[in-house]
Amino acid sequence: MLAAVAVFVVLMLVVIIYTRNSKNRPPGPRGLPLIQQSFSMNYVRKEETFTKWRKQYGPIYQCSALGQTIVVLSDPDLIREAFSRPFTANRQESNVLKLFYADNGIIFSSGELWQQTRRFTLFHLRNFGMGRTQLEGLIQDQVSAFVDDLVAPNVGKAMSIDKGLRIAIANIIWGVVSSERFTIHDTRALEVMDSFDEVGKLTGVFILLFLFPVLERFPARLTGLDKAYKLFSIPMDKLFQPAIDEHARTVDLNGEPRDYIDCLLQEQHRSPDLFTNRHMLRSILDLFVAGYDTTTTTLRWAFCFLCSHPEVQRRLQAEVRAVAGDERPPQLADRPRMPYTDAFLMETQRVANVAPYGIEHVTAEEFQLGGFTVPQGAQIVPLLQAVHQDEALFAEPLEFRPERFLDAEGKLKPSRVLMPFSVGKRSCIGEAMARAELFLFVTAMVQRFTLRFPDGFRHDFSVSESKVLIREPTPFLLVAESK
Ligand code: HEM
Repeated sequence: MLAAVAVFVVLMLVVIIYTRNSKNRPPGPRGLPLIQQSFSMNYVRKEETFTKWRKQYGPIYQCSALGQTIVVLSDPDLIREAFSRPFTANRQESNVLKLFYADNGIIFSSGELWQQTRRFTLFHLRNFGMGRTQLEGLIQDQVSAFVDDLVAPNVGKAMSIDKGLRIAIANIIWGVVSSERFTIHDTRALEVMDSFDEVGKLTGVFILLFLFPVLERFPARLTGLDKAYKLFSIPMDKLFQPAIDEHARTVDLNGEPRDYIDCLLQEQHRSPDLFTNRHMLRSILDLFVAGYDTTTTTLRWAFCFLCSHPEVQRRLQAEVRAVAGDERPPQLADRPRMPYTDAFLMETQRVANVAPYGIEHVTAEEFQLGGFTVPQGAQIVPLLQAVHQDEALFAEPLEFRPERFLDAEGKLKPSRVLMPFSVGKRSCIGEAMARAELFLFVTAMVQRFTLRFPDGFRHDFSVSESKVLIREPTPFLLVAESK
């Protein structure tokens, strides 16, 4: 009996390996059938596992975890080529995500619903200020609230800027979405943002559910889902649903929309089947979270790099002074004359890798890429961090050196291989907003202050383990000195 089982297992392995090779699949780690690499993955810092295998198997490889085939790309041309195909723009379907409405909204939806919502959201984000002076006003209001109310009163003292920065950045996207603003001490906003952080810590629960979907049917308190539901209901009940209800009472369904929620309500009026309440809630949640978390984290890295590289900070200050002077805040119109500042922000995004592997896509069709066959239904992971740390593309990639993006005359060199917002049909829709925020916050801070770490402290650029998807620096305090 034992011998028969052993023969069966060996035969299975031979068949699996043979069919895999015969289909010209990308190379990759081998594992036991079904389990594959499920237990070799660091699910909190997936980019670390992906990078380790990249060194072994090259710029395109295949692995498999939690029942999902994954093709990992670390070459900028392969990423561009893969994401230029219309059929690679899908996301993973998952019963676990559905529990949190994630088959709706913008970030995790696919097909017709995603296409319509993305088109509609981009259109309205533009109408509400992206790339226009209206957006700059919204950002400048928050820059001055942050600088005047939070930083200036604490000059010379070691302080944490995290909470204030989060509120300021959240206010910009929340202003576009709902026309509302939080005050710097708004407990509701902080509670909502904390609940998102806490959901991020429940990775273990979600992995278990991906591995054993049947657990979904067990009582939620046994699987830990009850905690996830409770945290998820905080933003819904405290912020998003009340905002929809309030707008529904006052919206003019045929008039000029006041903000994104008005637009959603007008769309719902036109196509009630597509724009359900769940879809509206998830669309608002997606914009809100994507809108504050990545930008806040990038700014924290930027301030961390400024404190660690005083010579870079001095050069930035000199450029800000030369172009904007000391009397008025820097503006987006100054940007073309500030190549060093742009190079600093590009280098910040290259080294920080806030979204180290973007968000996984799924291909609806089998296709050829880099000489291999990518199977239908595979997840495609753009390992952006590996691109940004590739020695062949960036000399001494671990060094923080903004000059790498400047030519011999000090002019900005555009880069095709820097892709922090990903590329293609599913690339970040908030890129213009994020780039404006980064520029205005950083320039305003160095115009008014010189930033440093408290005496005796050095940040080692370590990454917080408490967050999935996003690389966030471990906490630090900074001291702002008046110039
Ligand atoms: C420095 C800040 C930011 C970074 C590094 C960043 C990065 C990214 C990346 C890598 C993706 C995945 C693209 C893909 O699937 O290929 C993405 C998607 C997205 N981002 Fe951003 N983002 C930032 C700021 C923003 C802001 C300010 C907003 C809101 C206005 C935003 C809204 C979104 C949305 C809605 C998606 C999903 C797009 C889709 O699935 O069609 N992001 N972002």
